[in-house]
Amino acid sequence: MTKRELINKAKEAKAFAHVPYSGFSVGAALLTKSGKVYTGCNIENSSFGATICAERIALFKAISEGVTEFESMAVVSSANDVTYPCGICRQVLSDHMYDGKLYFENKDGEIIDSSVKEVLPFKFNNEIPNKK
Ligand code: THU
Repeated sequence: MTKRELINKAKEAKAFAHVPYSGFSVGAALLTKSGKVYTGCNIENSSFGATICAERIALFKAISEGVTEFESMAVVSSANDVTYPCGICRQVLSDHMYDGKLYFENKDGEIIDSSVKEVLPFKFNNEIPNKK
């Protein structure tokens, strides 16, 4: 699976976004270490806070099927330029794939290489030192 193929999977998923409130569609495609792809789109809700981002949908689909090892994620949006994950998604991604790569696409159609570490260099960590 190339970066371009993963970006294309994210674009396919973006078409399913449910965005009656923002009109802003996002698609994500998550590549597992075993080569499987899980996709996600943002799904908004009439109770706005219940909205879930595309990145978390893709990741939680995989985790809920017992998959825990991830290689990379591609994220695209209807902005047709680089759309970085929101702060909540950065923290969620960092808990499950801190060594993972991230791919975006800019307005010229070029793939931008990034990583979870790059977008969240100082992740929150709830490990208690000396915990038994
Ligand atoms: N959204 C995502 O799906 N991913 C992000 O990382 C940023 C925001 C969605 C949430 C909402 O449905 C819409 O984009 C506008 O904020």
